[in-house]
Parts: sequence; structure tokens; C-alpha cells
Amino acid sequence: MRNLQSAVKRALLDAKMDLQDIDAIAATCGPGLIGGVIVGTMFAKGLASAAKKPFIAINHLEGHILTARLTSDITFPYLSLLVSGGHCQFIAVLGIGEYKILGETLDDAVGEAFDKTAKILGLGFPGGPIIEKLAMIGRHDAYILPLSMTDRSGCDMSFSGLKTAVRRIVEEERNLSKEFIQNICASFQYTIGEILSSRAINAIEMFEKMCHPPHDKNFILSGGVAANMYLRKKLQYAISNHGFNLIAPEISLCTDNGAMIAWAGCERLKLGKVDDLSFCPKARWSLEDLTK
Ligand code: KG4
Ligand code: ZN
Repeated sequence: MRNLQSAVKRALLDAKMDLQDIDAIAATCGPGLIGGVIVGTMFAKGLASAAKKPFIAINHLEGHILTARLTSDITFPYLSLLVSGGHCQFIAVLGIGEYKILGETLDDAVGEAFDKTAKILGLGFPGGPIIEKLAMIGRHDAYILPLSMTDRSGCDMSFSGLKTAVRRIVEEERNLSKEFIQNICASFQYTIGEILSSRAINAIEMFEKMCHPPHDKNFILSGGVAANMYLRKKLQYAISNHGFNLIAPEISLCTDNGAMIAWAGCERLKLGKVDDLSFCPKARWSLEDLTK
């Protein structure tokens, strides 16, 4: 709570603005660890009430999938792949608050798989950026890892088998040399890329059935894992054969940040979608629950 006060003060100072210059107060109200979500929601409600400004409750995932509209001129509908530490979903984004989940992970999220694999290899946290760097030097064909669910219809995914396969290889290896770690990182990242690319093609087919062209055929990569340049390139290549264009926010806007929540607030405010101060923070909150 103390940190929130100073963060708000500093943000206003940096923007050379006063609280009265602000149009509305938007805050993440879920999903996530409920302690932090409650603190943020309560603080935002207090601020909105004291400053007599509208309050807007933002779903964290909605923040991620709308961010690309902050930096690029993108119209609805579009297909989004949200890949973060807690989520991995293909979403048909039909409008503000109109979301249809086409497929999702049945176990670990992609970011979680990066983090857990980094832990198995004795690397730091978060694992994503570290693995991406080491993978640049390694051989992606050094280890053949499982391409879980890529032979199935639909676009659900699974990553826990991949993590387990890495654990087995690591347990069998006596010497965790630099070269071994680079090779396993490259093989792991390559396999993630293969799974996401193959599932993306199915997601595109499902999206095209739901949203008949013409539309702009935009594929928005969002969430912390979207910061990965290798995965961006690989997905771009895979979907371009289907006429889709990959758009990903700049790296600082991919991992969790306040701007994405403020932007989702702007989008909602423009449509008059504001919330009551009685809004309850939620630990679980599916994007599909936003469709009224
Ligand atoms: O969206 P985010 O900041 O927080 C959640 O909402 O979860 O995503 C964090 C996740 C972490 O699991 C982190 O390892 C992953 O994003 N990540 C990356 C990269 N940068 C962050 N994964 C792969 N490559 C990266 N460069
Ligand atoms: Zn996030």
C-alpha cells in the first residue's frame, strides 16, 4: 500500500499532471493472487472515490490482449495468442469485452514452462529471457523433445510433458556443462515454437470459421512470453502462409506493466463501461465472463 502511494505520486509527477487531470481510475481487479489484487483494487477504489472519478475494474488478461491497440492501429476482430506466466490461450477478440477462447493449455502456461525449465537447469528467474539468450548459442536439434498434442484437432496445448522430458535428460547428464545447457535451452525453445506454430494454424482455421472475412487477418502476440524474439519470428513465418500478420507490442509492453491496464481503462471509458465501487476483486476471472 505504501509503495502504491509513492508509485502514483511519481507517475503523476513524471506525466506533469495533477490527480484532477485524470479522467478515470482503472485497476487490475483479477485474475491472480488474491492478496495483491485486493490491495490494488482497494487502493484504486479509494483514489476514485476521493477524487470523484469513475472507477474501472480491469481483467489482467484483457490488459494484455488490448495492448497492441495502444501502439498500432488495429481493428476488431483479431486473433490473439496470450502467452504469460499464468496463461496460454488463443482468443478471438471480437470487440471490447467480447472474447471467445478458442483453445488453451491443459496444464502449464508457456511462461511457467520457461520458468520451471530454467529452475531445473539451475538458472535464475524469470526463466524466459535467460533461456532465450542461452538458446541463441545452442543447437536446437541436440535433443528431440515431445511435441505434445500437435496431432490433435483444435488448438488446446500441453507443456508439462516437455518440462518433464527436460528434467529426465538433466537427471541423466552428469556434467551440466555450458554447452549442454545451451543445447537444451535451444531444443526446448525450438519445441515450444513448433507447438505454438502448429496450434496457431488450427486456431486460425477456427477463427476464420467464426469471423468470416473480410477482416485484417491480424494475429496479436501478447503477454510476457511475447517478448521472445525467436518465438515472434517463428510464429510470423508459420502464420504468414495463411495470410496472417503477426503484431506484438514492444517488449516493455509485453511483460506486466501499468500502461496496458490504463489503456484497457481508456478503451472501456470511451464506451462508458465503468464499474461500481462495490466491484469485488476476483482470483479467477475468465475473459469469457466479460461478455455480458
Ligand atoms: O505477462 P507476464 O509479465 O506476467 C504474467 O502475467 O504472468 O509474463 C511473465 C512470464 C514469465 O514466465 C517469464 O519467464 C516470461 O513471461 N518471459 C519470457 C520472456 N520474457 C518474459 N518468456 C520467454 N522469452 C522471453 N524473452
Ligand atoms: Zn501478465
